[in-house]
Amino acid sequence: MASNEIIHKRQLIRAHVAGMTYVDIGGLWGTTNETVTTAIQGGASHATMADLHPLGNRWWKAFEDHCEAKGVSGYSEKWVDICSPDAPADLGTYDFVHCSGVMYHVPDLFAFIGNLRAVTNQLLLLSSEVMPDRITNARGTLEFGPDHSYLTPVLSEENRAIVAEYLQSDGRRAGGLTYDAPFFSDGKARTGPWWWLFSGEFMSRIVSLFDMEILAEGVRRKGRGYTVLARVKGA
Ligand SMILES: C[S@@+](CC[C@H](N)C(=O)[O-])C[C@H]1O[C@@H](n2cnc3c(N)ncnc32)[C@H](O)[C@@H]1O
Repeated sequence: MASNEIIHKRQLIRAHVAGMTYVDIGGLWGTTNETVTTAIQGGASHATMADLHPLGNRWWKAFEDHCEAKGVSGYSEKWVDICSPDAPADLGTYDFVHCSGVMYHVPDLFAFIGNLRAVTNQLLLLSSEVMPDRITNARGTLEFGPDHSYLTPVLSEENRAIVAEYLQSDGRRAGGLTYDAPFFSDGKARTGPWWWLFSGEFMSRIVSLFDMEILAEGVRRKGRGYTVLARVKGA
């Protein structure tokens, strides 16, 4: 079973980040969910925003305005695809790595978590949308156990209908599930749609495969996301 403990991410960041180098990977969208300002206000020695959006576009501008409004400066900005083989070399390493809202959008979970691990010196705070342990609705029942993940583009129509009904009944939109979104472009798997459907426990289990121990895990105060705080073994 996934943990039902409520995780306060910003509290966790503030509790650990003093004196550490910090990066928020994929923190741009939505602007106010970024954690660079939290890290700097919590005493990080340096903080970086890294995102797939090309530097200088409207999300970067919104982020810069947001930081300025909070009186935060001195951070770095990097353009990165965290799943790219070049990502670890391009990013470098950080004592504390945060990544939220990306995991279920990437086709290659192993490249994603492997690269997150490669850029983490000590702590990884990873959040993702997850599925409940079981969905039961008018379309049927679907279980999300600790040891498997559903690959959305090959879901059966029956299972797709169960998940879509679950999300829609909650007013949620999900590319590839509740509306059409291409999984491939020019024969290449593209980041963006909901590729994987998994439980919170699956998430912490797959993180544990990468030489990390789980310090805390649980649900967000709001929403259906799951968060795992992991430490590199021996760090
Ligand atoms: C759903 S938003 C999540 C935003 C915020 N972190 C949150 O939790 O609300 C996904 C963000 O991750 C970025 N992103 C998606 N795929 C990425 C990748 N492969 N590498 C780096 N950033 C990525 C997107 O540009 C976007 O800013």
